[in-house]
This record gives sequence, C-alpha cells and structure tokens, in this order.
Amino acid sequence: MPIGINYLNLIDTRTKYKMKAKTALNPTIFVIFGGTGDLNKRKLAPALYNLFMEGYMPEKFAIIGTGRTEFTDDSYKTALEEAVNEFSRSGKVKKDKWEDFGNTIHYCPTDFAEPKTFENLKAAVEKYQKEFGAGTQVIYYLAVAPNFFPIIAECLQKYKLTQDEDNSRIVIEKPFGHDLESAKELNALLSTIFTEKQIYRIDHYLGKETVQNMMAFRFANALFEPLWNRSYIDHVQISVTEQLGVGDRGGYYEGSGALRDMIQNHLLQLLCLVGMEAPINFDADEIRNRKVEVLKAMRPFSAEDIRFHTVRGQYSKGWVEGKEVPGYRQEKGVDPHSNTETFAAVKFHIDNWRWQGIPFYLRTGKRLNQTSSLITIQFRDVPHQIFSSDVTENWQQNRLVISIQPEMSIRMQVQAKRPGLDMVLNPVDMVFDYKGTYEGDTPEAYETLLLDAMMGDQTLFMRGDQVEAAWELVMPILNTWESKKSINFPNYPADSWGPEEAEALIARDGFHWFNLP
Ligand code: BG6
Repeated sequence: MPIGINYLNLIDTRTKYKMKAKTALNPTIFVIFGGTGDLNKRKLAPALYNLFMEGYMPEKFAIIGTGRTEFTDDSYKTALEEAVNEFSRSGKVKKDKWEDFGNTIHYCPTDFAEPKTFENLKAAVEKYQKEFGAGTQVIYYLAVAPNFFPIIAECLQKYKLTQDEDNSRIVIEKPFGHDLESAKELNALLSTIFTEKQIYRIDHYLGKETVQNMMAFRFANALFEPLWNRSYIDHVQISVTEQLGVGDRGGYYEGSGALRDMIQNHLLQLLCLVGMEAPINFDADEIRNRKVEVLKAMRPFSAEDIRFHTVRGQYSKGWVEGKEVPGYRQEKGVDPHSNTETFAAVKFHIDNWRWQGIPFYLRTGKRLNQTSSLITIQFRDVPHQIFSSDVTENWQQNRLVISIQPEMSIRMQVQAKRPGLDMVLNPVDMVFDYKGTYEGDTPEAYETLLLDAMMGDQTLFMRGDQVEAAWELVMPILNTWESKKSINFPNYPADSWGPEEAEALIARDGFHWFNLP
C-alpha cells in the first residue's frame, strides 16, 4: 500500500541542461557509420530528431549517414523519416519540422573494404566544416559490428579526419571487445589514433533517466549515505530480466551469452553506482575513478566461487501470453547443441571497508516471466524486536527498491501499523513514481548520451580502464563456462524465473530474489 509523498520544490534539471546545451553547443557534424543499420533506425535517428524537436541540437548541424547500400540524399532522408515514424517515442514526425530536420541529413556511400571511399567522406565533412566555420565539431558514431571498429579507426587516421583533438570524437557501441585480451587490443589501437578524451564508449544503461538518478539519490540527500554500508545493509540485488527471447539476434548472441551481453557491462555499471564512494565533484574523471575503484576492489573468482556462486541457464520452448515460443536452440542462427547461456546469476563481493561481507547478487536472463530492471537494497533487521510474533506475521526488513524500467520509481519499504484497534504491523511502500511526479515524456537513453557527446561530457561513458577491469573480473567465469559445457541445458522454460539453481544461489544465504508485484 503506497504512502503518498508531497514533493515540494521539484527542480526541472532538464530545463537547465537544455539552456546549457543551447548556449554552449558548437556546430556539429554527425557521421554515422552503419547509417543504414538497425541501431540508427531504432535509436540514433529518433534520438537526434527528438533532440531537435526539443531544441537541444546546435543551431548548425549536419547528419551524414554512411553505408554500403546505394542511397541518394533524398531516398536516405525518406528511409530515416519512416524509421522515426516507427520508432520515435514522440510518435510520427511533424511534417513541417521534419522538413527542417531532413535538410540536415545526407548520405555518403562508404565501404570499409574500399578505404578510398573515405575520400568522399572527407570531402563531405570538409564541406560542412567550411560552411559552419571555426570550432565545428565532428562526431563519428560507430554503429557497426565490432569487427569493423579497427578498420574505421585506421581509415579515420589515414584520411586525417580526427586530428583536431578538441573538435573530433569517436563514439563506440558495445560490445567493446569479446574478452579481456581483445578489449585491451582495441584500447591499445584506439590510443594510437585518439586521445582518451576523444573516445566515447557507450553503455546505454548509463543514459537511462533512472540510472542517472542513482547519483542524485545517493549524493544529493543526506539521508542515505550514513546508512550506505555494511553496518546497515544486508545485501544488494541487481536484476535485469527480459520477457523477449533473442529474436533475430541469434547469430550475434551465440558468440556472446548473458554474462558478456549484460553482466560485463550494464549490470556491473549499476553495481558500480551502488558501490562507489562519494565523488568530490561531478567531473567525468572523478566519477569514473570512483567507479573503477569498485571494480578493482571486487573479489576475484576462484574455481570454487564459480562452482558455488554462479548459475547459468538456457531457455527451452514454452508459452508466452498464449503463444508458443521456440527454445533458444531452435532460434534462427543458433547451434541446435548450443552451450550459450541466456541466463546468468552471480554473487559478487566488494572487498573494501564499506562492503566487506555484503553479497551483491546479479541476475539477468531472456524469456523470463517479467521485463523489469530492479536494484534492491535490503537493510539489516532491527537490532531488537519489541513486537510479539503475532503482530509481525508480515515482517519485512526495510528495502529500498529502485525500479529502472519499465516502471520508473524508487520505493522505500517500511513497516507501519495497520489502522485499527489492534496493533498489527505490515510493510508499506513510500513511492516516488516518475509518472505521478513529473509531467511529460522521459528522454530515451540515446538522447542523453548523444547530447553529452555533443557537449563533450564523458561522465556517462566508459573509460578504457573501466572496460578492462570489468572484463578482468568476469573472465574466469567465462573461461570456465566455455570450457565446461553445461550438461543440463536447456534448464528453464520460457516464461519462468530461470533455473532453480538461481533461486538456490540466493536462498542458501537466507534471501530470495525480489520482484515487483
Ligand atoms: C543490449 C543487449 O545491450 O541491451 C540486449 O545486447 C538487451 O541483449 C538490451 O536486450 C537491453 O536493453 P534495454 O534498454 O532494453 O533494457
């Protein structure tokens, strides 16, 4: 039963941000490698359009899509208009506004196998640099398969497209490397071409509104920080569950799996936000330093830990909302004997003063019963119980539940007396719900991240050492899982909560996975 909270003096930080963006942004040229691909259609083009609609784009900007397919500027514009109509959070484009936005869109056929085609790209970029004048920044967005990252980076260098350190940036999608070694190689290569301040490694979870709010919540309130440690917290759960299966991404997913696809990046980033020490300011490097410290303090996995503290799973066929859905091994592009995990649950420890002895349980999986991303901080029980057992039947330790999606909320679960003549206690939720508190749409993660890339703010992007530290942590698990084929795959049916062993992993310590009702 939620208790209402009166939120006074809410500050619309977005408005301030907007003002900052409007006054500070230099003319910008966006070059999108993979301009005809899915990511651009579903995320980047709608995000740029929505930024434009809300007045965040610089006064002068151009979008250059690149790809191997033949398009004219006009046919490319039409393709993006259709994509925005289909995928934008704000619905179909407003025709008159689209005219203005569409005039900034261009297409430049570029084939990485034919580096000469970069000459055309260079000419297109230079044309806009001249037109927009001094201080024009160029953002190269690599929305392509990771095997193309090196060749594009090398071509950008060869054609001298990124020499101006202050005004050129490269944005790199995940996955950043396939393992520690390949991530190191990629970092090493990029560092011969770019400075770290030019490199923006994306983890789109960091752009989510609720994830950004984690920092505000922890460090803009005096209430939580004194409790935010092993003396008051019992354990932490981070759970990102998805109802969908791998769909048509089987080919990619076969070489990845849940640990690589979600835990190495998104979930460990969430863990860092929960676990980090208070930064001294909001500078990108200060925050990233604090986060990297968490990864460095994480307890390495021994063979025994992998046996007892990790669980992997793979879905079998089943029924979802009255429809039969295939098992993972029957999905397109998947080996019928696949050993790839579609579910992973891992118990982590952070070996430092703040968190010694406190387990962090992370879980993620596809084709589960619910789509939901939750961070649950469970507090310790009261030190002494003054209420008798007949009034505390529904006793529940305090919990702070941060729901990232689809519901965007923060709940504080506390005990309260039920109204009535008897003294009966039951848990109630104090809820901060975005929908009920703020008006209007929430920006998509990519809008935030693209705006930050334009503003030169790297706070929400991954630094090279962060990516490597996260790989280092998960490598022993990946190696063990790859070398020892699971004998019980598939081990959970579609529409379930994953393998039973995942329940056992947390139940052994006396807890259970928390789900929102
Ligand atoms: C991606 C993964 O990074 O994140 C996908 O590759 C996953 O497998 C997706 O489905 C989840 O993102 P979101 O924003 O839908 O929670």
